[in-house]
Amino acid sequence: MARKIIIDTDPGQDDAVAILLALASPELDLLGITCVAGNVPLPLTSRNARIVCELAERPEVKVFAGCDRPMKRQLVTAEHVHGKTGLDGIDLPDPAMPLQTTHAVDFLIETLRREPVGSVTLVPIGPLTNIATAMARAPDIVPRIERIVLMGGAYFEVGNITPAAEFNIFVDPEAAAIVFAAGVPITMIPLDVTHQALTTRPRVEAFRVLPGRVGPAVAGWTDFFERFDKDKYGTEGAPLHDPCTIAWLLNPDLFNGREVNVEIETEGRLTLGMTVVDYWRVTDRAPNATFLREIDADGFFALLTERLARL
Ligand code: BDR
Ligand code: CA
Repeated sequence: MARKIIIDTDPGQDDAVAILLALASPELDLLGITCVAGNVPLPLTSRNARIVCELAERPEVKVFAGCDRPMKRQLVTAEHVHGKTGLDGIDLPDPAMPLQTTHAVDFLIETLRREPVGSVTLVPIGPLTNIATAMARAPDIVPRIERIVLMGGAYFEVGNITPAAEFNIFVDPEAAAIVFAAGVPITMIPLDVTHQALTTRPRVEAFRVLPGRVGPAVAGWTDFFERFDKDKYGTEGAPLHDPCTIAWLLNPDLFNGREVNVEIETEGRLTLGMTVVDYWRVTDRAPNATFLREIDADGFFALLTERLARL
């Protein structure tokens, strides 16, 4: 039976590729896409998610708009990486499919209450505002979540939006703190992993020559967003962060990591949003996450290319 997932997202080109990978994968049953403010404001993320579903010719997918700002802070966005629309790089038509009228947080709560206990996996690939708001509003849903597989945080690789913090956690550290303290099994895919999943030329060209519209679209997005990280890190390509979550669901053997304690810094003057990972177990804090540290990048891109070819 396909694994039931909800993708919580702020598209973002790499979010878009994660959604496409999920839509291409029969092992996964995408119950809905919940959108959050992050890379760009909510009206754009909830628009972009629908553009991506229509690109994959899946207009029946349910897309929900959620929180338009972090729990306690002003929204920080990332147009400097993703462009003004969040999906800069290629021109795609405005979506015709509707946005659901239910708020994303209500959808999360209703779905987790309706589905059997332990049968729904959450895949957050943006700031954790929707997930934490649902947990705070309806604590009864927390033990019903099978697992949370999230892209966020960094440890040995340090930060990308500040010297200490990764973007998704930095935007809403209070939300991240709630999620990491909830007691739900967490698979954490940090920058340590995603900075190994680089869009080299041969990998991008393999997308571009795929039949259909999806492969060339992914190559077009990549051409746009990789300029920022290539300049910053001096690498051959840019990290394709968010699809790593879906790849872990499809083939966890592509990754390795360890069970550790992860705490979120919510007060530090210089370290706000840092994920403090007790990698060497120097405290007696109980493990609360599987922190992934390595990815088989060739295996990941082979999987992604093979799946995108199906759309
Ligand atoms: C994360 O931040 C966003 O810009 C990307 O979509 C990804 O989810 C990487 O730090
Ligand atoms: Ca994202």
